[in-house]
This record gives sequence, C-alpha cells and structure tokens, in this order.
Amino acid sequence: MGTPGHDGTSELSSTPVAGPAHSVVSATAGSRTAVPSKTVLQIADLAPAERYKLATALIVPRPVGWIGTRSPAGVANLAPYSFFNVMAGDPPVLVFAPGLSARKDTLDNVRRTGEFTVNVVTEEVAAAMNLSSAPFPAEVDEFEACGLTAVPATRVGPPLVGEARANFECVVDSLVPVGDPETGGMLVIGEAVAVHVDTSLLNGTRVDQEALHAIGRHAGNTYSSTRDLFEMERPSEAPPSRPEV
Ligand SMILES: Cc1cc2nc3c(=O)[nH]c(=O)nc-3n(C[C@H](O)[C@H](O)[C@H](O)COP(=O)(O)O)c2cc1C
Repeated sequence: MGTPGHDGTSELSSTPVAGPAHSVVSATAGSRTAVPSKTVLQIADLAPAERYKLATALIVPRPVGWIGTRSPAGVANLAPYSFFNVMAGDPPVLVFAPGLSARKDTLDNVRRTGEFTVNVVTEEVAAAMNLSSAPFPAEVDEFEACGLTAVPATRVGPPLVGEARANFECVVDSLVPVGDPETGGMLVIGEAVAVHVDTSLLNGTRVDQEALHAIGRHAGNTYSSTRDLFEMERPSEAPPSRPEV
C-alpha cells in the first residue's frame, strides 16, 4: 500500500489563501503565478554562516523535534532540533541532525545508547522547548531543570515529556555524516517503536490538526503557529496539456 497523501506532487498553481481556518482552495490549471526576478548566490561564494542563514530562512516552517535522551550514567537530557523530520511512514522513520561544530549531549547519548524520544512541540510547550536549548552541563537533568515531567517510555530508556501532547519512542537505525565534516551535521535516523497521543486529539488514528496547535520554526528566533490551516484537493488525473502559443 502506498503512503496516503505523499506519493506525488502537483504542478498546478493555486489562488493565495487568506481565509478562515480550514478553508478549501481549488487548484486551477489555467491561472499562472508570476515568475519573480531572482538573485543567484553560489554556495561556494558564501561564508558558512550565510549558507546556514539562507537555508534556514527559506526551508520553512520546520517542525521542531524535541529530543529526549539518557546518558549511560542515567542523566535525562532534552534539546530541540529543527533539522528534523519524518522520512517514512511504515514504520515511522524520524530523523534529526545535531551540528558538528559544537559537542552536543544529544548526539553523545544516541551514539552510546541507540535510543531517543521525540516530543511533539505545540504552543503549550513552546517556551519550555526554547528553555531546553540552553547549554546545560551534561550532568544536569534537563527535564527537571525545565520544570517538565519525565514520563517513563514503554520500549526505550530515555523519558518522554509528559506535558507534550504526543511523543514517539525511537531506536537508532543509523548515523550518517552530512555536509562538511567539521561544520556540517550528523544525521540520526531512528525508527519509532511506540507513539503516545493526547486522547482528546484522537479519532481512531486521526489526529485533530486544529486542536493540536503545532508550531514551526522559521529563521533565527521566529516561529509560526498552525492556526490558519487550509485544504487543497489533490488532482486525480493530469490536467490537459497547455496549448502552444
Ligand atoms: C528551535 C531550535 C532548534 C534547534 N535546532 C538545532 C539543530 O537542528 N541542530 C543543532 O545542532 N542545534 C539545534 N539547536 C540548538 C540546540 O538545541 C542547543 O545547542 C542545545 O543546547 C543542544 O543540547 P544538547 O547538548 O543537550 O544536545 C536548536 C535550538 C532551537 C531553540
């Protein structure tokens, strides 16, 4: 069975939306979007900080993976990673990438234990997520330091953030270096073995997107909410080709 909603793309242009939550936009093959004039920047000509800034200002919004780990000594650690996403659905494969220019407790812990949790970041826990990005020493329990409830997971050692509205328990599949060996990152690829979801959000296995209040990260300290959701129906067949002009 294919992955629903994820096996194709549409080249159709659509009307910009500024409507009520969950408005429905219909794709219109005829109306073309203007082509903006662009400045071309060669990555090789940019300083590392400029490369990072452009990438993280344009690939937006990014979900934030709030990663729970445990050191071999048993210290619980928690930190946000916005180089993060889901890359497969069956089983869910979740990935994130700690940068290599500074040592990260999260990477040290996943290397040594092979386990992590992903705690879904919504508006309710955004401030605590931000606090957990502070450079706490490795021996500090960051759940405790951030005033969060460490809930035991069912299949892995690292705890879950009780206050988060959903959590994944993950085992590491592989670690893949990405980008420059010194200033790039280490892609951590994990498979989810259990998922916890706030019961009030669930209808069977459907998650209420309006009620979830997920947030996304933009450039620097900017975030967005998901309070202006809209829908687009996917085309069931290719539109007729445009006549030559
Ligand atoms: C929203 C947000 C997203 C972040 N994303 C990343 C990221 O993708 N990679 C990274 O190396 N650091 C990222 N950071 C910085 C880390 O969270 C920060 O360095 C933290 O102290 C790492 O903690 P650790 O040493 O416990 O792993 C992010 C910070 C914030 C606030």
